[in-house]
Amino acid sequence: MLAGKRILLIVGGGIAAYKALELVRLLKKAGATVSPVLTRAGGEFVTPLSLTALAGEKLHQDLFDLGDEAEMGHIQLSRAADLVVVAPATADLMAKMASGRADDLASTLLLATDKRVLLAPAMNVRMWTHPATQRNLATLRGDGVLTVGPDEGEMACGEYGPGRMAEPGAIFAAIEAALGGGPLAGRHVLVTSGPTHEPIDPVRYIANRSSGAQGTALAAALRDLGARVTFVTGPAVVPAPAGVAVVRVETAAEMLAAVLATLPADAAVMAAAVADWRVANTAGQKMKKDGSGRAPALEFAENPDILATVAKGAPRPRLVVGFAAETTDVLAHAKAKRLRKGCDWMVANDVSPGTGIMGGTENAVTLITEAGAETWPRMTKDAVARQLAARIAEALA
Ligand code: C5P
Repeated sequence: MLAGKRILLIVGGGIAAYKALELVRLLKKAGATVSPVLTRAGGEFVTPLSLTALAGEKLHQDLFDLGDEAEMGHIQLSRAADLVVVAPATADLMAKMASGRADDLASTLLLATDKRVLLAPAMNVRMWTHPATQRNLATLRGDGVLTVGPDEGEMACGEYGPGRMAEPGAIFAAIEAALGGGPLAGRHVLVTSGPTHEPIDPVRYIANRSSGAQGTALAAALRDLGARVTFVTGPAVVPAPAGVAVVRVETAAEMLAAVLATLPADAAVMAAAVADWRVANTAGQKMKKDGSGRAPALEFAENPDILATVAKGAPRPRLVVGFAAETTDVLAHAKAKRLRKGCDWMVANDVSPGTGIMGGTENAVTLITEAGAETWPRMTKDAVARQLAARIAEALA
């Protein structure tokens, strides 16, 4: 689907710049035209010659290049593309973009373009997690800029953490998705995520420790494969991903209503940690201590099972995926739950306190299908999401 598409590829300065060469190769192989732009810092890591030779197109480097301005001005260059990709996107380039600066060719193109922009950030872990970079990232996402990665892992500088540029294959997939392709193009996928809050009185509620991290990562991974994602989320800690339709709810009852309003969908992935019970005798006013030392008695009512309602109702998504967070007999409970709730797949995980999974960044899951159980190695929630999204794409193909 990339045949005939024009990609303006801005290569920033970073050790990951060498991966941009592989990206050019993948894009060319898929039939895309790649116009490369190399920043001054990028030129310290890859040579202009290797980039232009692989792309088979003229390389642009300077804002005030007389030849370039005569042939194709920088405004036109930024508009001729179907998509602008920045790989690697450095902290400096992101800061320039977020503040609208245009003091070199790359930043000028990024400010002048009327096309979508996809960033593949790459930087040292401290630079990535610095509040300034995270602030810039939030601004850019708010501006509609797409991102892929960074990945977590060993970095060239010897530190460990998020900051490594996404692999060329993942950037390629994100480019396809951004251009309306990807294996899930044209599919509608519903994702539920986060905890629910069940009110006790107007100021108090019952909740659980779900951060929304796994559901958020899943929504982003499905979006990256081209799906139209509706993300129904309870009050999560992790911000909702960009580029998906977000529906915010508080209670299980609200989540059920939002989910039913979202159907039909091709697949439903129910990663929310829905409260099993709500308070039946909620107080209309804030409950007061009456001085007697007696604690109020809360009565509970069972919440509707959203997953079972979707799996057994109509219109039923072709693929319904549930999550089973357990602390004992994980597999046995999850297998029984798959059958009881009527879903196609159950993703089981052990959320015992010692695992650090609930509210953490990693997950260790077993995928239970009709065919049996597959235990995946422990990995980041982002990696679980990408793997699961790829399996969902296969199932819907
Ligand atoms: O029964 P349990 O809460 O362990 O089931 C977990 C799975 O069921 C998750 O996929 C969760 O999103 C879903 N669920 C639901 N509605 C409920 C309870 C759980 O959709 N009321």
